[in-house]
Amino acid sequence: MVDKKRRDFIVTTTVAFGAGGAIAATWPLLKSFGPSADVLATATREVDISNVGAGQSVKVLWQGKPVYIRNRTEEEIKMARNADLTSLKDPERDAVRVKPNKENWLVVVGVCTHLGCVPLSNTDGTFFCPCHGSHYDTSGRVVSGPAPTNLVVPDYYFVNDTTVIVGAKEKNV
Ligand code: FES
Repeated sequence: MVDKKRRDFIVTTTVAFGAGGAIAATWPLLKSFGPSADVLATATREVDISNVGAGQSVKVLWQGKPVYIRNRTEEEIKMARNADLTSLKDPERDAVRVKPNKENWLVVVGVCTHLGCVPLSNTDGTFFCPCHGSHYDTSGRVVSGPAPTNLVVPDYYFVNDTTVIVGAKEKNV
């Protein structure tokens, strides 16, 4: 997609300047600014979640950032759904932060929205950032502390019940 944009840019520029030769000479240089092959290879991350039982989480690295994938208990889901949105700094329903029929899975980027520390995943499904004391609930929403917004939910989708792809949207959705 990036390349297509670049190509469109090149085409536009070529038309604008009417100088195809100069553009052709510039192309390899412009192309070198695009993401390298190894960066593209890590754009998505496939994670096997078959061993993550209810009440457990895994932390994986995706594009250099930690991502928590948690298998929430019934209790944690209930807490996330019943939260009083008016009391939240960044009000978001739990339903928009998880996938339909997969409400037990919470997938969030483990980077505190305050100054970027990695929050700890608590055994009760909440998160705590040790740097300046931000707390996040079982939906990854900030409930106290200096963090201004909720933990980010990355693009992800389930290939099947035991495999999740982080970093991309399901094609036909
Ligand atoms: S970086 Fe997390 S509370 Fe400041």
